Amino acid sequence: MEGWSLVSLCVLLGLTARWAVSLNPYSGAGKAPLFGDYEAQRHWQEVTCNLPVHQWYFNTTDNDLDYWGLDYPPLTAYHSLLCGHVAKFINPAWVELYASRGFESTAHKLYMRATVLIADIFIYIPAVVSYCLYLVNGSVKKKVATMLCILLYPGLTLIDYGHFQYNGVSLGLTLLGVLGLGLGRDLLGSVAFTLALNYKQMELYHSLPFFCYLLGKCAKQGLTGRGLMQLLKISVTVLVTFALCWLPFLSDPGQLLQVVHRLFPVARGLFEKCLPMPSCTNAAGNVGGIFIAVLVGR
Ligand SMILES: *[C@@H]1O[C@H](CO)[C@@H](O)[C@H](O)[C@H]1NC(C)=O
Repeated sequence: MEGWSLVSLCVLLGLTARWAVSLNPYSGAGKAPLFGDYEAQRHWQEVTCNLPVHQWYFNTTDNDLDYWGLDYPPLTAYHSLLCGHVAKFINPAWVELYASRGFESTAHKLYMRATVLIADIFIYIPAVVSYCLYLVNGSVKKKVATMLCILLYPGLTLIDYGHFQYNGVSLGLTLLGVLGLGLGRDLLGSVAFTLALNYKQMELYHSLPFFCYLLGKCAKQGLTGRGLMQLLKISVTVLVTFALCWLPFLSDPGQLLQVVHRLFPVARGLFEKCLPMPSCTNAAGNVGGIFIAVLVGR
């Protein structure tokens, strides 16, 4: 019983720290014409809830890709669609096509900040709590101390609630993947990590450990017998999860190629996005690195 009150206390402290940071301005606030990632996310809501799915990743007269064009995988787009519809319900001006560009207001900021907090409440925080309870060895005190360290880790809170991003979603799904593998539920873990990958392609840098761990585990069981069967099961699980995430884009190879081209913009220079705000982009990259360091160093 005492354990649960300590866990609740950790979660409440984590939520309070997040909301306190979110009271500050986001990056690019009031800085026309591009603003910052806050505007990028708002613009993705505008695009996804006003245009048919087949236009989301294409440069059309209604979708100017040079203005924060969608360049994250489909799960981010569906998340934008959901948030966009809720925004439209509250105040259509927040996501009106063209007219809402650069929209800023106190109520809108409250809404955007709330979407980040809700995503954390549903994905990141449960993932951290379960990871600590089930996979951290030692006493309840040690589990709770680890939980507090992860939940109060300032890098992630500053990027998501200060700067403005949704890294908690992809990192939370990745952590659920770690949890699945740690508990021997390899298929569930693979689904969780594939979802993370389909939310933010940056998760690719966590894919090598997942791949090597699963391949090694199968190899141990013998790659000619049981291990091969397990490897096949995992591969099919990953492929089916990918296919479900990409379903609207699978009917037409042109769609598929365009989404891939947007996610990996080799042709337009990989570092194009770093130009307006190199520090933020790099900082976001570091969050993941430190996050893994926390897990490994436990
Ligand atoms: C999108 O189309 C506009 C107008 O035709 C063009 O100026 C712009 O360069 C295009 N952007 C991309 C990313 O293709």
